[in-house]
Amino acid sequence: MKAIVTGAAGFIGHTLVKRLLDEGYEVVGVDCFTDYYNTDIKRRNIDTIPNQNNNFTLVEADLRIVDLGALLSDAEVIFHQAGQPGVRKSWGNDFLHYTEMNINATQRLLEAARAAKNLKRLVYASSSSVYGDAETYPTKETDLPRPVSPYGVSKLAAEHLCSLYAKNFGIPITSLRYFTVYGPSQRPDMAFTRFLRAAIDRSTISIFGDGTQVRDFTYVDDIVNANLMCSQSAEAPGSIYNVAGGSNASVNDVLKVIEEITGSPLNVEYVTSVVGDVKRTGGDITSISSSVGWEPNVNLRSGLERHWEWAQSVYRA
Ligand code: NAD
Ligand code: UGA
Repeated sequence: MKAIVTGAAGFIGHTLVKRLLDEGYEVVGVDCFTDYYNTDIKRRNIDTIPNQNNNFTLVEADLRIVDLGALLSDAEVIFHQAGQPGVRKSWGNDFLHYTEMNINATQRLLEAARAAKNLKRLVYASSSSVYGDAETYPTKETDLPRPVSPYGVSKLAAEHLCSLYAKNFGIPITSLRYFTVYGPSQRPDMAFTRFLRAAIDRSTISIFGDGTQVRDFTYVDDIVNANLMCSQSAEAPGSIYNVAGGSNASVNDVLKVIEEITGSPLNVEYVTSVVGDVKRTGGDITSISSSVGWEPNVNLRSGLERHWEWAQSVYRA
């Protein structure tokens, strides 16, 4: 089975590549190493991919310009993880990166997928941020998406494009709405990596707002499982699923768990909340669990323990 993983050098992308290689796939990873965060981290991600059987090839290229026809010609599965992430940075001039990397790059990939004759499934990494402050909790896929950040708008626009291409051209696309993903190699701008790094450095953690905001945190291996299971299942083109970890916790709850795991008190300051940050996320997973059989396996405590082990291996001098 030949798989393409876009965003292969990123947090989720390289974790997925490792799992696919374990499962015996031949994998072509595509990444252009954007400088949203330190590109050494992305090089390190790639270096951790074992490639004894030469089943992994990295194409260092931008989806907006690379010859996608050639790249996708014999692809059977595409996992589209590439994108410009980060909710809080998506205002102002930075929005250009979000329209380019999330909307335009996805549209180009979808056009090329029309001609990919062997394609059995394209999985798109959508986001819980499409919901904004949701209509109901736990939020269902049928609830009205009303993003409150420009990032969420760009992820929803790309998801709509996926639905359009599925409907009009029958491309077998599944969109997965990931809820705040954590675990080893989490991006350095995200909460848990920042908090655990501060625990090591004994520096001060800035909490945006009063820390009562809730997230349905999802462990990265569970996200990878959802990608695999959806890529292997014969779903109707254009299916959309929540992928939520079931670990509903406030940021203050997370700080307490980290203090228990690390055995030391954290230095915390509360600062102004950031526009675009939702108060709560919580995903109903009935749909993915009844259609595909996916359920999360890793709870917050054990996931954070693994994240802590990784953070120490990387950040302890
Ligand atoms: P990441 O930044 O670590 O990985 C994304 C990768 O895509 C980067 O390595 C980047 O260089 C690459 N990329 C971006 N634009 C590209 C382009 N035009 N061509 C080639 N490569 C390109 O981010 P992540 O946290 O691993 O997120 C992966 C995907 O999952 C993103 O699409 C993100 O929006 C989505 N997502 C992430 C989360 C989360 O909590 N991490 C939650 C919901 C959705
Ligand atoms: C995350 C990802 O960054 C997005 O790319 C993704 O699309 C989104 O999840 C999603 O679920 O769709 P976010 O929930 O903001 O976004 O994830 P974190 O950066 O881990 O933040 C979690 C919470 O901690 C937020 O409420 C944030 O305000 C808070 N936080 C974060 C702080 O209080 N301080 C920090 O230093 C960092």
